[in-house]
Amino acid sequence: MTSYAETYVRSLHKPEEFWAEAAEAIEWETRWERVLDDRRPPFYRWFAGGRLNTCWNALDRHVAKGRGERIALIWDSPVTQQVRRFTYRELRDRTARVAGLLLGLGVKPGDRVLIYMPMVPEAAIAMLACARIGAVHSVVFGGFAAHELATRIDDARPRVILSASCGIETSRIIPYKPLLDAAIAEARAKPEACVVVQRPMCGADLVPGRDHDWQELEDAAPPADCVAVAATDPLYILYTSGTTGVPKGVVRDNGGHAVALQWSMRNIYGVAPDEVFWTASDVGWVVGHSYIVYGPLIHGCTSVMYEGKPVGTPDAGAFWRVIEEHDVRVFFTAPTAFRAIKREDPEGKLIRARDLSRFRALFLAGERADPPTVQWAEEVLKVPVIDHWWQTETGWPIGANCLGIERLPVKHGSCTKPVPGWDVRVLEADSIGAATELPPGQIGALAVKLPLPPGALPTLWQADERFVQSYLSAYPGYYQTADAGLIDRDGYIHVMTRTDDIINVAAHRLSTGEIEEVVAAHPDVAECAVMGIADPLKGQAPLGLLVLKAGVNRPPGAIEGEVMQLVRQKIGAIAGLKAAIVVERLPKTRSGKILRGTMRAIADGEEYRLPATIDDPAILPEIADALARAGYLAKR
Ligand code: COA
Ligand code: AMP
Repeated sequence: MTSYAETYVRSLHKPEEFWAEAAEAIEWETRWERVLDDRRPPFYRWFAGGRLNTCWNALDRHVAKGRGERIALIWDSPVTQQVRRFTYRELRDRTARVAGLLLGLGVKPGDRVLIYMPMVPEAAIAMLACARIGAVHSVVFGGFAAHELATRIDDARPRVILSASCGIETSRIIPYKPLLDAAIAEARAKPEACVVVQRPMCGADLVPGRDHDWQELEDAAPPADCVAVAATDPLYILYTSGTTGVPKGVVRDNGGHAVALQWSMRNIYGVAPDEVFWTASDVGWVVGHSYIVYGPLIHGCTSVMYEGKPVGTPDAGAFWRVIEEHDVRVFFTAPTAFRAIKREDPEGKLIRARDLSRFRALFLAGERADPPTVQWAEEVLKVPVIDHWWQTETGWPIGANCLGIERLPVKHGSCTKPVPGWDVRVLEADSIGAATELPPGQIGALAVKLPLPPGALPTLWQADERFVQSYLSAYPGYYQTADAGLIDRDGYIHVMTRTDDIINVAAHRLSTGEIEEVVAAHPDVAECAVMGIADPLKGQAPLGLLVLKAGVNRPPGAIEGEVMQLVRQKIGAIAGLKAAIVVERLPKTRSGKILRGTMRAIADGEEYRLPATIDDPAILPEIADALARAGYLAKR
């Protein structure tokens, strides 16, 4: 068996040989001309000249190889009390008809199709159907409100939108159609058609001439075949929070993505085809794209799609029920889910009630895995608990303990070592702006030397310049992850914090700058600061401090309530402020920059140094008082 070290070194020294070998596990219509096309740095393309179809690789090829009767997808929905199983053949056939449905609506290769759906099987089918005909899907997380959806519609300009009548949050029905209608009304780019899954618990009104009933169209549609596309053609766009109100459209290509995901299933997660792999996330996030839909299916696994929560559907034993009932071997979720379970079942009694003897490993990502949660999971589950680090942009893990290669000793607080393909460095900018590498143990910017491996973003949707400026310009020759951290003497990566305004709330990625834009739009707010303060369940939670316009004499409590409502209404409940607190003034530097970091440190009860450039230090105790009065000052 090759060691991690050998594999890692080979991936960096002979990347073309390494990835060409991995690409043999994918079926190509036309083989590539160049494994790595590096003729236009800093833009690199993998498998240039190659042609393939991602849906063929995820579904049809398994059927063609006689595995059509194996289960591809198990939909487990405690919120509707249903479990449905789809064989590879069934999933292929439904996908082919939905692909036909899209062709019937005029969708052509390269057209965008926006998917705004809850965790129903049709969401996965929709993604695969787009891939089948070379259309580019853009899934928008169902928890985003109409305005966020409108922003994404305007950027992607979809010809068709696929949606459902409602989602279910524990026991609450969330009608999706009014949000979709409001988003389309707000957006400048109007789709030609919407196709809606009518769920029995809540029907949606259809707009004549524009909206269609999904089932009716699917039943009438002829199945469509897979169309080969260029390896470098976009498979999907996934919007993620940037530092402004305009989200970044992360592009994923077809060839590199398929190769990287298949490689990761075996080598990182250590699963074999035919085994059951479960990721408890949402198809609206990158984790859902890569490891509910594409990764497990391309690898020929059975993937579980779960419409439920870690707690409350019906209790903190829900995950263990799913693992036992569906024979899940490897499971992936966010640390926040484990914190929620631990809070309700601290002794893990509900775990002991289940037979988890065939369950092999738990992977955690999406936010920092705090050591107490990891330790607890290790104790109650008695399987390896693997923290691994990645981002929407990277599409698959940058740092992990690669169980399929060699299981390395775990260090709590570290995601272990760089995954083969990722040349991770810790950098700081020197006086002339060039990148200097820091020695082991020193904290700096976590960066990846270019070229990035297959599967990572090649660019942002129709925004090459923004791609370069956002990720490649701070340290020329490197991809800036916007995470800060260190690599220790043993080569272990420790991810500490973001270097930008992104916060992680229950493993949902949010931009405080974007929330501030919404808060500042309240007519009574003169200025504001939103920061992510520590939260025992969600890791971080956004908290807003507001300064009111001169002359506003309405009760602060009313304005605070309106601001909180505004954020939920404009961005979505997932971005809901923990509190909005009116203060007299905000601390700033002499040049007028609001000292958000200092206020966050005060709120979290951390030691902080008084910034040398602070304009009026007397404001800091005022902020501490306001936070204390509102009950949001952590004790030191
Ligand atoms: N559609 C509509 N609303 C949604 C939603 C969706 N898909 N997802 C979340 N929301 C709503 C919730 O209902 C909640 O609304 P409320 O404030 O009116 O009650 C709000 O957004 C906040 O949701 P959330 O942050 O999920 O908090 P919660 O208290 O409902 O649940 C956890 C807490 C820990 C159970 C939950 O956050 C969780 O399961 N986290 C894991 C997340 C995850 O897997 N992320 C993927 C990355 S790997
Ligand atoms: P997202 O793009 O939503 O997947 O969020 C990516 C960000 O989440 C990263 O840049 C990190 O800040 C954080 N993150 C993800 N996984 C980890 C991890 N294992 N440890 C620490 N932070 C993580």
